Amino acid sequence: MSDEIVRVYAPASIGNVGPGFDVLGLCLESPGDRIFARRAEKGVRMTRLVPLDEKDCPAVVSVMPPMDARNTACVAATAVLERLGVDWGVELELYKGLPVGSGLGSSGASAVAAAVAVNELAGAPLRREELLFACAKAEGAACGAPHADNVAPALLGGFVLVRSNGSVTRIESPLSLWVAMVTPKAELPTREARAAIPTEIPLAEAVHNSAQLATMVYGLACGDLSLLQGAIDDHIAEPRRALMIPAFFEVKAAALQAGALGCSISGAGPSIFALCATEEMAQACEEAMSGALQEVPIAHRHWTSRVNTHGAQVDTRGEAT
Ligand code: HSE
Repeated sequence: MSDEIVRVYAPASIGNVGPGFDVLGLCLESPGDRIFARRAEKGVRMTRLVPLDEKDCPAVVSVMPPMDARNTACVAATAVLERLGVDWGVELELYKGLPVGSGLGSSGASAVAAAVAVNELAGAPLRREELLFACAKAEGAACGAPHADNVAPALLGGFVLVRSNGSVTRIESPLSLWVAMVTPKAELPTREARAAIPTEIPLAEAVHNSAQLATMVYGLACGDLSLLQGAIDDHIAEPRRALMIPAFFEVKAAALQAGALGCSISGAGPSIFALCATEEMAQACEEAMSGALQEVPIAHRHWTSRVNTHGAQVDTRGEAT
């Protein structure tokens, strides 16, 4: 059995990006999860699960996922091993930089890191897109619905569209956008947040969101910032989830006042994101959003990130912390 250790970093992602419920996601630079993987006897075993404190972005939620076969990293690793049909298994060490139930694609990042790591151990026979099935399966196992709007951007980077048949399209954009983030100290399990969305919605809501999403995607593809301005206006998930998130309306008003192109709930929440045209705008929004939470006051973390255009990274440096 080879002693080779593969190390993979999978970053946070923002599901929905406002009007694209289950359809659009974007990838952040940080924070993220790290997986160390090595070949082992058949099967998948998690040998370590520890919080990874990113220096500039300390986690405020301490709940950890299970350290067994239910962990999304194990589910994804198992699915990739089965697809590869190899006669070996893996041992995984998972360093969690992403708090669970934070709306940052935590379960998805673990799955993506594990899927990429197993594929690397096999000599990378599968393309990134071919790992999506394993990551979406893991996501489905974790929160009851196999949405891919976190795992697809975490795998591929950038803004990614997910179709109802599961295929994905990466939006090539000439824009280099930034995001301001706040994560209030509150846990909102995705299952719970999804239960707040009815299975049927009024036609007017569907029409509104379709128009906003289409405008946003066209604006991204053309690099037209004026089309992005105001396009993050979600009439489906945000109104039904906003009250589950501390001071959401105050934070959103502060971000828009500070110049954000748009602001909404990150994934299922409680994290809140503001899409920004420049790093300076992101810093101003970060300060304004954090200020709104301090006034309440609500413990939170806050940071800015460039939109990450490459997705999960095989990390040859290999330091865990
Ligand atoms: N699209 C999913 C939801 C993202 O909003 O439930 C969860 O991170």
